[in-house]
Amino acid sequence: MMNITEIKPGIRYVGVNDRTTTRFEGLWSLPYGVSYNSYLVLGEKVALIDTVEEGFGSRFIQNIERELQGRTIDYLVVNHMEPDHSSSVLALRRIYPQMQVIGNAKTLQMLQGYYGIQDRTLEVKEGDSLDLGGLTLQFYFAPMVHWPEVMVSYCPEHKLLFSADAFGTFGTLDGGVTDSQLRLDHYWDEMRRYYACIVGKYGAPVQKALQKLGGLQIETICSTHGPVWQREIGRVIDIYDRLSRYEGERGVVIAYGSMYGNTEQMADEIARCLAAEGVGPIIVHNLSTADPSMVLRDVFKYNTLVVGSPTYNGELFPEVESLLQKLAARCVPQRNFACFGSFTWAGAAVRRFTEFAERMKWCMPCRPVEMKQGYSHEAYGEHCRTLAHEIAEMMNCNK
Ligand code: FEO
Repeated sequence: MMNITEIKPGIRYVGVNDRTTTRFEGLWSLPYGVSYNSYLVLGEKVALIDTVEEGFGSRFIQNIERELQGRTIDYLVVNHMEPDHSSSVLALRRIYPQMQVIGNAKTLQMLQGYYGIQDRTLEVKEGDSLDLGGLTLQFYFAPMVHWPEVMVSYCPEHKLLFSADAFGTFGTLDGGVTDSQLRLDHYWDEMRRYYACIVGKYGAPVQKALQKLGGLQIETICSTHGPVWQREIGRVIDIYDRLSRYEGERGVVIAYGSMYGNTEQMADEIARCLAAEGVGPIIVHNLSTADPSMVLRDVFKYNTLVVGSPTYNGELFPEVESLLQKLAARCVPQRNFACFGSFTWAGAAVRRFTEFAERMKWCMPCRPVEMKQGYSHEAYGEHCRTLAHEIAEMMNCNK
């Protein structure tokens, strides 16, 4: 019988699955749960790479003890300080009091700030190595992927990278640990959703890290969330590369708010006309009911965004405004962008969309459709058709 937790000789998976938390970071839904990954490196000395969310501490420690078989932990490498990976550090120090905690200068400052830890630490610098006897760890800094202290640890004997959050996905590890042991279908969109929600602001640092890591031979990627990547490394790096360049696939996201269905009818008519123009895929999100993380995922995934909103208190509909704020916070540099809006007595929605496009330095070549009061095909069908045609032309110009 194969040992599922043995990734390579001396490299063991000791992470946990979380199917209980409903909102990651208190914000993002977890329909497939999430895993907090941690790994043991068993040389003559033993290193543990990262920990898990502290609520799962007791099962984490059981996983460690099962793999250690009476040995102890000499080093804890903290690649990332976000508490989903660091909040079991204090418990581990109580069980393994001789263990040294390894991090860079920023990590050590955060260890003190979060947990009051000041002793039994070891500071590493860019490119430093730790010889465990038989296995080595080399440390490379990857600041802002996704916090400033983030570093990755490379094991040259196995061409294996412990990559912190990079290449991570939502979704628990059901049975298997590596990508060849798991059904992967849902992970690809969960990777995009994880990236868009958690790392989405930091495209430039991710690009820098990808360039730095490009010099390493990598056959296994052990991220802090989701599958261990081996067979699919090429696809995983390609997805991360595209996401961090904010490069969307061809496709349209129509995201709208609507109080009484009139603006929604515009959205549906534009979607129908886009389909008739041969454009696809088309994803339509009602922002009053859509999961914001799924909308963000789709805006990162596709190259064209069409937004619609009623005028509400002289402003955009609040859920529409919230989406625009999330995109601005993630510094999305460009999308094919178009808009439509509505009002009853004084229009503001289309003006606000135009101001947003100017602030973001996005082009908006299509003439917006602005509707007064109720929708009918007679009054507004032709305007929606024209907008859809212009969107299709814009997409053909900016493939
Ligand atoms: Fe999974 Fe940035 O922590």
